[in-house]
Amino acid sequence: MATERIIAPTASPIEEHKNWALRPQSIDEYIGQPELIERLLIAIEAVKARQSAKDDTEPREHLEHVLLHGPPGLGKTTLAHVIGAELGTNVHVTSGPALARGTDLVAVLTRLQPGDVLFIDEIHRLPVAVEEFVYPAMEDFKIDVCLDTGLNARTVQIKCAPFTLIGATTRAGLLSSPMRSRFGITHHLRFYDEQDLVHILDRSASLLSMGTCERDTMSRIASRSRGTPRIANRLLRRVRDYAAVRANGQLSTGIVDEALTLEGVDALGLDDLDRNYLRTIRNVYDGGPVGLEAIAATLNEDAGTLEDVVEPYLLQIGFLARTRRGRMMTQRACEHLKLPTLVPTEEKPLTEPATGLF
Ligand code: ADE
Repeated sequence: MATERIIAPTASPIEEHKNWALRPQSIDEYIGQPELIERLLIAIEAVKARQSAKDDTEPREHLEHVLLHGPPGLGKTTLAHVIGAELGTNVHVTSGPALARGTDLVAVLTRLQPGDVLFIDEIHRLPVAVEEFVYPAMEDFKIDVCLDTGLNARTVQIKCAPFTLIGATTRAGLLSSPMRSRFGITHHLRFYDEQDLVHILDRSASLLSMGTCERDTMSRIASRSRGTPRIANRLLRRVRDYAAVRANGQLSTGIVDEALTLEGVDALGLDDLDRNYLRTIRNVYDGGPVGLEAIAATLNEDAGTLEDVVEPYLLQIGFLARTRRGRMMTQRACEHLKLPTLVPTEEKPLTEPATGLF
């Protein structure tokens, strides 16, 4: 199963718990995403300035609603907590699928204190019926609840405290446009570059009391982390265990290579599923173009899983191109996997493959 991959960008609840101690506690401890951090700092400072110009009788200022979208594992939940810490407010965490009925939303909204942050993960999975309740809550901080049916039907208006909704999604395209238009700040989180990942790994190693290590050790882990802090921290824990058992706890580039080769992760962070996916395109479909469904059937994998968890990184590093007639692997991917080179075709990619690693 793809969700059990060591390089999977998603995390189990147990792993989330382990990562908790490694999370930045404030915005100045947050590494990477500089444009977003700057936008947030400005918005937060402006809210605080407006708030301090008010007296206690006036309604509390709140930060505009924020929509964060981008691949999993890049720190959307972490950012919500950091924003809450910076505003000095509580952060309430829920998710689209957990808000199955309007009453679930009412329960959450009525618990909010003025200025609080409500984080809704996977907001694209919010049921349409609940979405209708969210709009007046976001705009006017009120919810219209319909009681009873038929002749006895009546609407009761429930007020809630002014709050900031932080919505997170890996699929911004699935959000309805009325929902998208209600966010004042919208930002796409990008994969992290190697330098930022090294910085994050250094910080995590110090929080885990891992001591000093040979130069370049962290960049060896970073280059295999697929631009994703969650993967970087997971690989760091695997390497730490390996070093504890095989090298008296001493980390080095050699130990990173040994530990991650044992985990099946190669120098660019590809695992067996990535390699099998690419080999299938090369060996069964002559390098493509081939439809996703055909690849999925050959691999006996779910097409959605391949699209969500395998393809984004291969597209990112320029190993895969999406064309009008299907997926094609690139020469660069053939070279990496030491497969026979491809006969060039005239097919034009739908999206240009990225040239850089991240
Ligand atoms: N741990 C995970 N992501 C992080 C980030 N962006 N900054 C600092 N520490 C992190």
